Amino acid sequence: MKKSIKTVISVILCLCMVFGFSVASSAETADYKRIVSVFNDDPKTMIGISWYTQSDSPSEVKIYSSGKDVTSQVTLDKAAVTSFEGNYVHKVTVKGLTPGTKYDYKVGDGATWSDYYTFTTDDGDSSVDYISVGDPQASDLGGFQKAAHTVEKAFEYFPQADFYTVNGDFTNDNTNDQWSEYFEAFAPINSKTTLVPVTGNHDDPSNWFVNQFNLDTSESVETKDGVNYSFDYGNVHIAIVNTNDAFSMSQYQLNWLKNDLNSTNADWKIVQMHKSPYTLGKDGKWPDALYLEKTLAKVCDECDVDLVISGHDHMYLRTKPLTDNKVSDDGVTYVLGGTCGSKRYEIRTFSVDTFMQKEFIASNIIQKTGYGNEWNGENWDTKDTTKNVGGCFLTIHVDGGNLTLNAYIVSDETDEVNLVDTYTMTKTTGQNTATYTGENVHKKGYLYNWIVSFVGWIAYAVTEWLPKFFKVIPDIIKSYAKTGTF
Ligand SMILES: [Fe+2]
Ligand SMILES: [Fe+2]
Repeated sequence: MKKSIKTVISVILCLCMVFGFSVASSAETADYKRIVSVFNDDPKTMIGISWYTQSDSPSEVKIYSSGKDVTSQVTLDKAAVTSFEGNYVHKVTVKGLTPGTKYDYKVGDGATWSDYYTFTTDDGDSSVDYISVGDPQASDLGGFQKAAHTVEKAFEYFPQADFYTVNGDFTNDNTNDQWSEYFEAFAPINSKTTLVPVTGNHDDPSNWFVNQFNLDTSESVETKDGVNYSFDYGNVHIAIVNTNDAFSMSQYQLNWLKNDLNSTNADWKIVQMHKSPYTLGKDGKWPDALYLEKTLAKVCDECDVDLVISGHDHMYLRTKPLTDNKVSDDGVTYVLGGTCGSKRYEIRTFSVDTFMQKEFIASNIIQKTGYGNEWNGENWDTKDTTKNVGGCFLTIHVDGGNLTLNAYIVSDETDEVNLVDTYTMTKTTGQNTATYTGENVHKKGYLYNWIVSFVGWIAYAVTEWLPKFFKVIPDIIKSYAKTGTF
C-alpha cells in the first residue's frame, strides 16, 4: 500500500476515534447496562467500574487517555462475574492510574463494546468541588428523569464538579425495574463523572446496592443492609456511613467511624449518610434520629468533623454549628440535603423545640407545593410558593482553608436555578494530624455490638424519646388527618 493511502486511512481512523469520543456517552447500549464508576480506595490512582449484562460474558475494559489506548499501562483487577436476580454483574477495579488525569473507558466482552464513559482521577490539590443530592427515589422512568434533570442542571451550573454524591434512597421500592430506570435516566450523568453512593433505607435490603457498585469496603466493619467506606479527595476526607444497621448505626460502625476520622491528615472532614440526627421532616420524630444525635453526633464532635450531609427527609435544612447538642462557633454543621426528585415532605412543626431546638435552624427550605417556604428566623414565610418548589442540589467548593456550601432549587415552574442558601466555613490548614494508626477492625462479634446498641437505644427511647413523643401525639394525629401519612 502506498504511503499516502496509509496516511489518509490513518487520518480517517483518528478522526473516527475523536468523533467517537465526542458523540458517545449519552445513553446505555443494548448489551451493556448500568455502567458506572465509583471511587475504590484511592481516587488518585484507582477507580471501580461495574456494569450488568443479560448473558454470562467475560469482563473486559479498555482505558483511553487523550484518545490513546493506555489499557496496557494500568492494572485491571477483575472480579468473578456473578449472577444476581437475572442479571450478570461485572466489576473491574482499575489500578495504576495517573493522578489528575481524564480517562475515557468502554466495557465489553472483548468483541463488542459499550459507548465511551469518562472519569477523572484526583490531582491531590486542595481545590475540591462536588455536587451532592439526596433521594432520587422514583417509582417510574419519568420520576427518575425528573431527578436526573436536577442533577444535569447541577452539572450545567457547576461544571467544575469532580464527582457527585447521592445520599441514599436511589429507588422507592428497590426493585430490578427501578434500578434499571435509575441507570437509564442517569446514564448521561454517570457517563461523564464518578458517583459516590450512600445506602438509604429504601435501598434496604442492600443486595441490590452492593451488587450495583464496585466499592472497596474491605476496611469497614460488618454492617447490615448497607456499606461504610471512606476516601481522601484532595484535602478533604469523606466518610460514607450506613444508617440502616441496628437502630440506625451499630456500636461497631461508630467505632469504625471514630478510627476512620482519626486516621486522616486531611484538612476537612465530611460525613455523608442517609438519616440525619437533625430534621423537621416526618422522620425527625422517631427514636433513630435521637439515637444518632446521642451517638454519631458525639463521634463527630470528638473527631472535629466539619460537615455532615444527609438525605431521607426530603427537605433542605442546615443547622448552625453544633457541639454537644448546643450552638457553638466551632461545631459541626448538619445539612439535610433535600431531594433531587419529586417526592417531597412537609414540615412537622410539632418537632420544633421537641425533637429539634428552634435555635439550631440556620436555614430551612420546604420543596413541596404549597410549602414553598423559607425559615426567616421566626416562622416559615408562606408567601413564595414557587421559587423553592423543585429539585434540590448542593455544591461544595473547597479551596484550601475555605469551604463553601451552596444549596439550589431547580424550579418546577420555570426551570430556573435558584440559590436558596449559602454558607462558608474557614480554617487554618495543616492542623489536622492523624491520631489513630491501628488496624480498624474490632475483635468482638456483631452480636455483642448489636446488644450494646440495643441497650443504648432502649435507654434513650424510654428516658428521652417517649416523653417527647407522648407530648406530640395530638399533633401527629392532626398531621395524619391532613397529610395521610405519619
Ligand atoms: Fe427518601
Ligand atoms: Fe430514606
